[in-house]
Amino acid sequence: MQIRFIGAIILAFIVQVAFGQSRELVDFNQGWSFTLDDDLSYRHEDYQPRGWQKVNLPHDWSIGFDFDEKYPAGNAGGALPGGVGWYRKTFTLDKGDENKEIHVLFGGAQRYTEVWINGHYIGKHINGYLSFEKELTAHLNPSGQPNTIAVRVDNSLQPNSRWYTGAGIYRKVFLEKRNPVHLLKEETFITTPKVQAALSELHIASQVAGKSGALTASISLEDENGQSVLAKEQALSQGKLDFSAEVKNVKLWDVDNPYLYNLTISLKDASGRQVDALSYRLGFRDFNFDVQKGFFLNDQYMKIHGVCMHHDLGLLGASFNKSAAKRQLVIMKEMGVNAIRTAHNPPAKELLDLCDELGLLVYNEAYDMWRLRKNKFDYHIDFKEHHISDLESFIKRDRNHTSVFMWSIGNEIREQFDSTGVDLTKNMSQVVKTIDPTRPVTVALTETNYDKNFIAQAESLDVLGFNYKYFDYDKLPKEFKNYPLLASETTSALQTRGVYDALHDTIQLWPASSKDKYVTNGNDDYTVSAYDNVAAYWGTSHERAWIEVKKRDFLSGIFVWTGFDYLGEPVPYPYPARSSYYGIVDLAGLPKDVYYMYQSEWTDKEVLHVLPHWNWNEGEQVDVWCYYNNADEVELFINGESYGKAKKNPEQLHAKWQVPFQAGELKVVKYKDGQPLQETSKFTAGSPVDIQVALESEKYATGQEDDLVFATFSLVDKDGNTVPHEDLKISLEELENIEVLGTDNGYQADLNSLSKPERETYKGLAVAFLRKKDSSKPAKVQLNSKLGKKTIAIQ
Ligand code: GAL
Repeated sequence: MQIRFIGAIILAFIVQVAFGQSRELVDFNQGWSFTLDDDLSYRHEDYQPRGWQKVNLPHDWSIGFDFDEKYPAGNAGGALPGGVGWYRKTFTLDKGDENKEIHVLFGGAQRYTEVWINGHYIGKHINGYLSFEKELTAHLNPSGQPNTIAVRVDNSLQPNSRWYTGAGIYRKVFLEKRNPVHLLKEETFITTPKVQAALSELHIASQVAGKSGALTASISLEDENGQSVLAKEQALSQGKLDFSAEVKNVKLWDVDNPYLYNLTISLKDASGRQVDALSYRLGFRDFNFDVQKGFFLNDQYMKIHGVCMHHDLGLLGASFNKSAAKRQLVIMKEMGVNAIRTAHNPPAKELLDLCDELGLLVYNEAYDMWRLRKNKFDYHIDFKEHHISDLESFIKRDRNHTSVFMWSIGNEIREQFDSTGVDLTKNMSQVVKTIDPTRPVTVALTETNYDKNFIAQAESLDVLGFNYKYFDYDKLPKEFKNYPLLASETTSALQTRGVYDALHDTIQLWPASSKDKYVTNGNDDYTVSAYDNVAAYWGTSHERAWIEVKKRDFLSGIFVWTGFDYLGEPVPYPYPARSSYYGIVDLAGLPKDVYYMYQSEWTDKEVLHVLPHWNWNEGEQVDVWCYYNNADEVELFINGESYGKAKKNPEQLHAKWQVPFQAGELKVVKYKDGQPLQETSKFTAGSPVDIQVALESEKYATGQEDDLVFATFSLVDKDGNTVPHEDLKISLEELENIEVLGTDNGYQADLNSLSKPERETYKGLAVAFLRKKDSSKPAKVQLNSKLGKKTIAIQ
């Protein structure tokens, strides 16, 4: 049985002043004033915000604080404060704006957000993860005179998520100027009803706002080189566009070659004057799920190698930065990831632009709860009134993205066990399909018995996702007949980068069962060993979870919990632990060892990775693991002496040895057909004598003014070996044209604010995020430590 979802498309909404005066998108992120304090008088036009902090958006006020257990969100919420904050900004309109509609577009604010323009109340927004816009036109002053926008953001009701939310206007804000007659972005839907390289079909539906005479739409499709592929005009009928065209010799979009076309829809009035234009990036692709065989992209079989990702960006908190998001996605892509699950809420829109460009499919999720709560103040309190309109606005915002391939209307929803789940599922699924009939609707479920699962009983989902419980996988096709199935969440293994405790052959569960809130026999320093052998009791090791999905074709793929560590949910420990242990990569963006297990399984790159470090007590028994691929076996050498060959097998994805420690060189060599192919070594390190600095910027560049420079600091001994056993405090001083946005070391119980320019390295490593004040000029930052001072030049 085949269930086919013909390609829905793309979008990236980038109309930067590009089309004359027809629609102008103005960057509205600079020059705001902010106070973490609440007084309704702040809304007045003539209020003088003396002593307020100067900030640029995106802005997350929580992240700048030291962690503390006193905050009501608790350590599950990241041990950082909520509260109420106000933002104000003064701006003037240009000549020629008098006849325009002026809207303010918020990418997202946590949480309840109210807007005033020149003292007039414009309205409130409820959902902390959704984008929204407000029209300002009626209350604006004539061009040249100042206008003041005041925004109150209330994130005081805590806890309201099961993770760190961030607080404030944490995504970008734009001012959009439109002619009264314009295309409705939210009613514009671009699809590809037929996708074949030789001949594809493009369809565009759109609608016009405002009273209008005769209007014509010009549709232009260009390839990546700017060559015109299609240029057509069509008259609108009663303000509506219903355009279809054939496109020959199409380059398809897929995860290896994410080919995007540029599509422009421009609107002309009877005199031929352009009154509006929308631009999109469009990929041609289709996909289908086969109940027995799994997932196919453009008719090619593809196992979904996915990771779940929360919205925070480590030391930036929730404050969105496109290059920091790109860094996360590229690190994942290089590991072999081909899909992202936006756990458990709508992401920043720019994240979808990146996934379109990088070739990552997106399992796009709306809710973590419905009517029944998971937390006292979570969205369940607004669900009744807002869940349909929020869902509509979410689907309309994202349905033109090529990368989005599924809509999830919920994660581990408690209505699975409640008969109200049937109608809620039916209603929401219907809402989604009305707005977007081209993509499957799913829910990430936990109940594996059909008779007890009211969401499945609604019989209105297209694909069923199941979280954890791999031992139930084989019963799923019998319980949930004729449904494509997906391991929508797996693993929940726990690790601290660079920590290696004595190996236990069995997987340890921390906490051991639902009877314990925390692990009872954990480590005193709140760490978890990075051998892949500890998991929360509902999860399992990375290897086990992947093996169980890999061997079952009927499971279309896996979404590992999680790609990166995130703030909050620090299972298995109480405070001072404040960020998660689940990531394949730590909070700072440094891979844990298991990263290479996935890379060896999910890519063709030559992988050879050995763990642990090589600094132990003489004679101590040490477990050595090796992740590798493209080879028959690997051999371990200590100081040139062989300790034997070993191999992985279908039930164990690493080679292993137990050996007595001897200072010197630990080396592994991989062999194919008896021939050595690749080798790698670790050396016993001495004390640190230097700090190596690696800067990365181009790789993660996005062309935005606020692109970051990512610095990694490694302690090295006199021979250049990374030092895993001694740490040092480092600090950064801004010398020239630079801002230090924060530092991190990936250690889950470090209580110093992540925004500070100083940090102790952890297992020899630390990271800083830097931003040039003027991106066109070189910059300088100084690194201080007890080893001395170093000036770092940034070109
Ligand atoms: C899942 C849940 C995730 C996260 C994870 C931690 O049950 O869906 O949001 O809480 O557990 O293991």
